[in-house]
Amino acid sequence: MRLYLYISKSLGISRREAKILIKESNDVFVNKEVIKNPNFDVAKNDKVIYKQKDLQYIENVYILLNKPKGYICSIKDELYPSILNLISEDELRNRLKIVGRLDVDTEGLILLTDDGDFIHKMTSPKKDVEKKYYVEVDTAYLKEDIISFFNGVFIIDENKQQYKTKKALLEIIEANKAYLTITEGKFHQVKKMHKAIGKEVLFLKRESVGEFNLGNLKTGQYKIIDCCQKNRRNYEI
Ligand code: URA
Repeated sequence: MRLYLYISKSLGISRREAKILIKESNDVFVNKEVIKNPNFDVAKNDKVIYKQKDLQYIENVYILLNKPKGYICSIKDELYPSILNLISEDELRNRLKIVGRLDVDTEGLILLTDDGDFIHKMTSPKKDVEKKYYVEVDTAYLKEDIISFFNGVFIIDENKQQYKTKKALLEIIEANKAYLTITEGKFHQVKKMHKAIGKEVLFLKRESVGEFNLGNLKTGQYKIIDCCQKNRRNYEI
């Protein structure tokens, strides 16, 4: 790993600050040798010292939570409690940010992490990350609904502009039940898409996001996940 990333993570400073510190402080040592090159490659067993203190590399943490209804995806409690109340370890709770949003009445998969690059990768509209929802609606689905969602429907977005949704996959399971897979995350998107085809969503649960799925995690439970080394390396370069 590059030295500036190691320093940035272990001291909790930005990458830019870490680069300046390495170049200018004369206080960063790797195996007792002062290093001024931010791109110096730190090996697994190297000892990194700053101001005579042994630095520990802090790994990022990734959590997969099965959100219940009645909790909000905000780091603070508002009208409803924050989903962070469901994380029992204080030390973890204080580090976490929420990857995207689910409505207060939506259940299902939400990711939490302290890794800003991961949040960007999962939520950037350019990345087209698939999100699969289980949906129950007020009136029976029609075959035409599959085509409408495939071709895109018009919704009103956060800026009150008309927006045509990207290609989405509707899999009808029963008359009023389906899975819907979308690759974007506009505010209330699934509910608005259903409104566009004359339906009201009565129950909504997110089953998966990208490569992550709920498995047999119960509502309200969470687990710490080991988040794909290969991806992490990609954005550390
Ligand atoms: N779409 C919605 O309408 N609500 C959610 O919570 C998530 C996606």
